[in-house]
Amino acid sequence: MRDFFLFLFLLHLCLFSGSCSAAGVQDVTGNGYNLGSVNVDPSGKTLTANLKLIQATSAYGPDIPNLTVFASFDTDDRLRVRITDADNQRWEIPQNVISRESKASTRAALIGGGRSLLRADHVFSSPDSDLVLTLHDTSPFTFTVARRSTGDVLFDTYPALVFKDMYLELTSSLPGDRASLYGLGEHTKRSFKLSPNDMFTMWNADIPSGNPNVNLYGSHPFYMDVRSSSPNATSAPGSTHGVLLLNSNGMDVFYGGSSITYKVIGGVLDFYFFAGPSPLKVMDQYTELIGRPAAMPYWSFGFHQCKYGYKSVAHLENVVAGYANASLPLEVMWTDIDYMDKYKDFTLDPVNFPVDRMNQFVDSLHKNGQKYVVILDPGISTNESYGTYQRGMKQDIFVKRGGSNYLGNVWPGPVYFPDFMNPKTAQFWADEIDIFRKNMLPVDGLWIDMNEVANFWTSSPMNSLDQPPYNINNYGNRQPIYSRTIPASATHYGNISEYNAHNLHGLLQSIATHDGLIASTGKRPFLLTRSTFVGSGKYAAHWSGDNYAQWNDLGYSIPSILNSGLFGIPMAGADICGFIGNTNEELCRRWIQLGAFYPFSRDHSDIRSGPQELYVWDSVARSAKKVLGLRYRLLPYFYTLMYEAHLKGSPIARPLFFSFPEDINTYGISTQFMVGPGVMVSPVLTSNADAVDAYFPKGKWFNLFDYSQSVASESGGYVNLATPYDSINVHVAGGNILAMQGEALTTEAAQQTPFEILVVVDEGGNASGEVFLDDGETVEMGGEGSDQWSLVSFSSGTEEKGLKVKAQVVNGAYALKLSLPIEKVVILGMELKGTSKVTGVSVDSQGKITNLDVSVGNNSVVEIKGLPQLMGEEFEIKLEIDG
Ligand SMILES: *[C@@H]1O[C@H](CO)[C@@H](O)[C@H](O)[C@H]1NC(C)=O
Ligand SMILES: *[C@@H]1O[C@H](CO)[C@@H](O)[C@H](O)[C@H]1NC(C)=O
Ligand SMILES: *[C@@H]1O[C@H](CO)[C@@H](O)[C@H](O)[C@H]1NC(C)=O
Ligand SMILES: *[C@@H]1O[C@H](CO)[C@@H](O)[C@H](O)[C@H]1NC(C)=O
Ligand SMILES: *[C@@H]1O[C@H](CO)[C@@H](O)[C@H](O)[C@H]1NC(C)=O
Ligand SMILES: *[C@@H]1O[C@H](CO)[C@@H](O)[C@H](O)[C@H]1NC(C)=O
Ligand SMILES: *[C@@H]1O[C@H](CO)[C@@H](O)[C@H](O)[C@H]1NC(C)=O
Repeated sequence: MRDFFLFLFLLHLCLFSGSCSAAGVQDVTGNGYNLGSVNVDPSGKTLTANLKLIQATSAYGPDIPNLTVFASFDTDDRLRVRITDADNQRWEIPQNVISRESKASTRAALIGGGRSLLRADHVFSSPDSDLVLTLHDTSPFTFTVARRSTGDVLFDTYPALVFKDMYLELTSSLPGDRASLYGLGEHTKRSFKLSPNDMFTMWNADIPSGNPNVNLYGSHPFYMDVRSSSPNATSAPGSTHGVLLLNSNGMDVFYGGSSITYKVIGGVLDFYFFAGPSPLKVMDQYTELIGRPAAMPYWSFGFHQCKYGYKSVAHLENVVAGYANASLPLEVMWTDIDYMDKYKDFTLDPVNFPVDRMNQFVDSLHKNGQKYVVILDPGISTNESYGTYQRGMKQDIFVKRGGSNYLGNVWPGPVYFPDFMNPKTAQFWADEIDIFRKNMLPVDGLWIDMNEVANFWTSSPMNSLDQPPYNINNYGNRQPIYSRTIPASATHYGNISEYNAHNLHGLLQSIATHDGLIASTGKRPFLLTRSTFVGSGKYAAHWSGDNYAQWNDLGYSIPSILNSGLFGIPMAGADICGFIGNTNEELCRRWIQLGAFYPFSRDHSDIRSGPQELYVWDSVARSAKKVLGLRYRLLPYFYTLMYEAHLKGSPIARPLFFSFPEDINTYGISTQFMVGPGVMVSPVLTSNADAVDAYFPKGKWFNLFDYSQSVASESGGYVNLATPYDSINVHVAGGNILAMQGEALTTEAAQQTPFEILVVVDEGGNASGEVFLDDGETVEMGGEGSDQWSLVSFSSGTEEKGLKVKAQVVNGAYALKLSLPIEKVVILGMELKGTSKVTGVSVDSQGKITNLDVSVGNNSVVEIKGLPQLMGEEFEIKLEIDG
């Protein structure tokens, strides 16, 4: 019965809100299909419906006459709607690349099927799911996905579905006044929230990310939709769902504000709807499907330095010495293609980077607690005397075209490209990694670049795969899809065309590199990839690619890292100080102030750019010391966020609305972001500025550089903050507890410092947080022996005469082995009177009571020392306030 009313309600919406009209549709290409029989299998798992073409159209090739719609509740929070050719199998992403595990609900059922006055509907729903699918027996056929609890229509197709061999088109209406969309990457945008009347092209390409609004290195046909109200305005703002079109073919997606149109050049329409209803729930549900983000080693949260154009091992040594001399943290030294012998993978330049000197260099880094990472490109030089090439030829693992190996041209000159679709290629690649690490240089991590694939040659087209009837907006000017990459007519293992598999290359290479690193090191892998697809976060970190050393690019970096998080790749950053062109002192200073809070924090520049290491300018070095100091104090927080990301897909860097979905003012913010739930970063993004207008959602916020400075936001609003040249605003919100450690020059040294527990209470005295600890490098995070990790959760709450703070130990074993003291507990937000006296005791798990040393500073900053418990032991602190 509920569903019947829901249907009437939807109908009402459709008739009276105008959302059924075709306004805003780009260009209607087909006449659509009529709905035939609709069945649900007896177990209730899968709905199957037949569609019949109404009338063919000539544009973009012949229509496919018969289609099948499959729908299933894969989980209670995930509805899948897949539309494909009823009579012929079509290309779909192989299950071994992205597995689509279904934990199908068995309680789903088809309700209705009867005819109403205007539309006959088949309602497919499950009592366990908030999502309801309705197939409309209209001519042409359409379907709707709605949220049962609020009646909100989430996805509503109209007017006509188009399904041809090389062209698929589907449009959904959106409530333009209530929907905020995010995602559909990878693109460089000023605004994280998608702007209406914009187009998003997905075809992985080597286009510098300094170019906004064009397709870039990765493809993620996923969006998150945050609704500012429900249709009858009865529920709080912030109800959120996600939509994925799981399809690896090239596509253009038009976002019209009140509609979204997919124009796809192959594959099938495989939609997944994620129920949310919070942004974090959507991330949990999305990464449950596509793969949980890879755990990153602890050291990867340190500061990284790279440059294309480090000329020799002596140059590398000078940079490392420059950081040491300036007392600046340097965790990881990187080398771009300069280290290779004539740009061949798995080689060392015998003159400038000789094996013995390089081994001494890496050895000294390791002795100092530092790491070394090098770049690899996909193209294998066809030089006959090159071992990697010889082994690849022997195993016949290269991409083919017209029956022979396809010859491309990249840094080393002529190359063949390993075909990662071939199961033998992963082993070949793993072997090459291992041979290099064992015989040449024991690098700690790898960076895979140019893997879209980039090709300096554009080969001539061969057939319709190279020149499909619909030209996607490649490079922003509808350049052929065979431009500067492996041509679409090339073939992979199993006769899979590049046309279909192109966008998967970066993902496949990431899987092989990730597995190869584990096999060679036995440790948790660190891998940075430029090209990505849905699911890449399960294997790799990502940076935003080749940006420009310009103020605009500093601003773009925030939407870029937020998008990466949304795509399930939380370990993300942008090249600090800028990659292309010369940076300058002011820009570099502002950039490290922001970049110190990217999840992945690396300074990197082009061969034609001047030096921009953090010690080059005194003012940059001074500011870097301050901001990286705070980053290193926050390392346990970053790492705990990594743990949460690995478990539940929650991004490390997130938009404000993830923490404040009910505050609609946060939906459009792209100039600030959160690190985890509670820390907000509000940087300077323009030249000559000494103040920032920062938005503060409701609550009390404390400056992490100076706890005595705070902002109280009654109901959410902008605050002008003085931000002198050497500073950035980083605030923590009431309600959060952060475990922090001390500053150090390496993460290893920082991990040996005592803890500070920062308790930031809300108006009600409540706060919570947790800390996850392990050795930072075992392959499984929290998954191996129970003495290999620790999890402690902290909470605070008011008591009659004051406040109590509790540490509850979920697993203390690993922490106890470290014997790390909690040097102090700092409590912010208590709002004491000048005359108040605060005393405190701690109570251990046996009930033993210890008096604590409590002092009160400005702004009611309460500092507690003398806690006898170590990190990993349970305790309760009771504070009493007099007066
Ligand atoms: C479409 O389905 C009809 C039966 O409904 C069948 O006769 C026809 O052959 C099918 N078309 C194709 C191309 O298979
Ligand atoms: C709003 O819609 C929901 C779901 O359809 C319904 O339960 C609720 O009663 C409606 N509220 C009003 C005021 O109409
Ligand atoms: C070390 O740093 C000081 C400034 O702190 C600078 O004057 C000196 O040149 C640096 N030495 C080297 C070898 O980089
Ligand atoms: C092939 O590689 C060898 C060894 O690195 C080098 O001496 C030779 O010049 C290369 N040949 C070509 C054609 O690049
Ligand atoms: C490979 O696929 C193409 C179409 O993409 C087809 O024309 C060709 O016959 C196939 N070759 C083999 C050996 O299956
Ligand atoms: C504080 O937390 C307690 C226990 O979780 C809860 O009952 C109370 O409502 C919270 N107070 C405020 C003001 O949020
Ligand atoms: C408190 O604030 C005053 C005035 O700003 C300042 O002089 C003093 O040093 C501060 N005390 C502490 C403990 O920070």
